Amino acid sequence: MGGKEQYDLFNTAETAALYSKHQPPLHHQAIDVVLAATQGRGQLLDIGCGSGSSTRPFCPHFSKVVGVDYSPAQITLAKTLSHEVSNLQFHQGSIYELPVPNRSVDCILGVMIAQFIDLPRIFEEAKRVLKPGGALVFHGKCDFKVVEIERETEYKSESETATTVSELNQRIFHIRTELFSGLFHDRTTFNPHKYTNIPPLYPNQEATRKEWKTSYWSTIPQLADYILTWSAAGKYCVKHSVSSGELRGKLVEMLGAVGVVRVRCEADKFTWCSLNCQD
Ligand SMILES: C[S@@+](CC[C@H](N)C(=O)[O-])C[C@H]1O[C@@H](n2cnc3c(N)ncnc32)[C@H](O)[C@@H]1O
Repeated sequence: MGGKEQYDLFNTAETAALYSKHQPPLHHQAIDVVLAATQGRGQLLDIGCGSGSSTRPFCPHFSKVVGVDYSPAQITLAKTLSHEVSNLQFHQGSIYELPVPNRSVDCILGVMIAQFIDLPRIFEEAKRVLKPGGALVFHGKCDFKVVEIERETEYKSESETATTVSELNQRIFHIRTELFSGLFHDRTTFNPHKYTNIPPLYPNQEATRKEWKTSYWSTIPQLADYILTWSAAGKYCVKHSVSSGELRGKLVEMLGAVGVVRVRCEADKFTWCSLNCQD
């Protein structure tokens, strides 16, 4: 797990560009958790860094920041987007063989990656490279849901014909479970549990968790763009030999939200943190 399959999944220039453009930026609370957990400000490693949107926010806070990802396409885009940042490097390779000496890193961060990785293997690697007291931090989110709809004026008085919040959520559920049936990585492992089921680095320790809700407005085409960043959407395009543009059109059609100007979405976000307690 977490090997070639994941490498292939995210390894096209198109997937990298879509992900970088349509995933929301790293939430400031996640940045705060990392800074609060990390005493030293020497080096931070972002594992599974993608195009670096979870990596770059840490450059003002650490002397050296390194992003590691299997995917050459992601690393190429990460370098293009970051060429002006002097204390930032990207390395194409496995997160299980981090390109740093023993006990040299203050923080290892993994954003939206816990569901893809072999936890015991990354724990071993974290124990090797983290300084004593260094932190391993994961950040993730649950599936979003629509909680409010802003309508075109003419539909405000015709609620029986306009799409409702519950219909829209059903359509999104249908996209997840029917259109993308069998195409998701094992989604049940960590994210739905908000990382409560990730054990600490050492058995006699407790991992610390934090969770919060985010809320944002989105148009239907923006929602379709966001859905295109899901790993299952990439797999769908390969399986059915369609372009992401074609899938986007299908998604907008399936969401088919009559009279909708924009929708407010909510998602749970959370962090998990465990410290390297060896002397
Ligand atoms: C969902 S993306 C998250 C990207 C980034 N952290 C973000 O939040 O924008 C997961 C990334 O992990 C990478 N990845 C998955 N397994 C990996 C492994 N074993 N070694 C290196 N990278 C891996 C994928 O190539 C992909 O870019």
